[in-house]
Amino acid sequence: MNYLLQEIEDSIGIITINRPDALNALNADVIEELKETVGSMIANENVGVVILTGTGEKSFIAGADIKKMQTMTSDQALEFGRSGQDLTLLIENSPKPFIAAVNGFALGGGSEVSLACHMRVASENAKFGQPEVLLGILPGWGGTQRLPRIVGYGIANELITTGKMIDAKEAHRIGLVNHVFSQADLIEKSKELAREVLRNGPRAIEKSLLCIRESVGSDIESGLEFEVNRFSELFDTDESKEGLSAFVEKRKPNYR
Ligand code: CAA
Repeated sequence: MNYLLQEIEDSIGIITINRPDALNALNADVIEELKETVGSMIANENVGVVILTGTGEKSFIAGADIKKMQTMTSDQALEFGRSGQDLTLLIENSPKPFIAAVNGFALGGGSEVSLACHMRVASENAKFGQPEVLLGILPGWGGTQRLPRIVGYGIANELITTGKMIDAKEAHRIGLVNHVFSQADLIEKSKELAREVLRNGPRAIEKSLLCIRESVGSDIESGLEFEVNRFSELFDTDESKEGLSAFVEKRKPNYR
């Protein structure tokens, strides 16, 4: 690994993008390393939640690598765009929640990677933006699809067509981030959030994420049908027997 740091502590995986000289911008190599590491965290039975962050106090990810894009043909851009989209889909479809701990700039592709995470928390100095139109391009790693689903159509139209940056407070106000913490507390508070999730049954978490994802683009009847089937499946697991019995027996459930 040249561009990433990774650790696992008490079932929490932490992936840190470590390319400080380019403010953690993502080139093809960083994307490949990220896919590999995200995949291995998902496959690792000792990991229940993953925190994704950037090294230093200035930048989460300053976007796709502009210097590399400068000379790309449209065919190369198609490949580069698809590769970034594959990374975002891998994160979004993970059965384990990903928390983006946004420690500074989350711009362009950096914002888009955070949008694929299941939750976003930010440091007070974080800045979000989709500045692609300033460069004569558009958000190509899911920004036009995920941003409106998270903040609504009108705000997404404004952010994407102006390319302006917003601070953490505004990101919180529009529902783009769940919580804002001081830079010093960001990782510890992200771990606290992860621990709240880890108390619960992994199968129930996985199926809940599937149902929430299914709500996007489903009509209510199909979504409810999908939900009730996942609900019923959980009754065949030891996990639900443990959770329901623990309540009745007035004790804490033990899922892991
Ligand atoms: N790609 C490549 N290098 C980048 C970069 C990026 N996205 N962002 C920053 N860097 C590099 C700079 O070129 C600079 O390197 P050099 O010292 O070798 O010149 C280094 O990181 C430090 O950056 P700055 O000197 O610019 O730092 P600053 O504090 O003055 O400004 C900033 C910080 C406002 C984030 C500014 O760097 C910036 O605007 N970066 C670009 C942000 C951007 O437009 N991102 C979107 C990219 S397009 C995209 O992501 C497409 C997509 O949807 C997939």
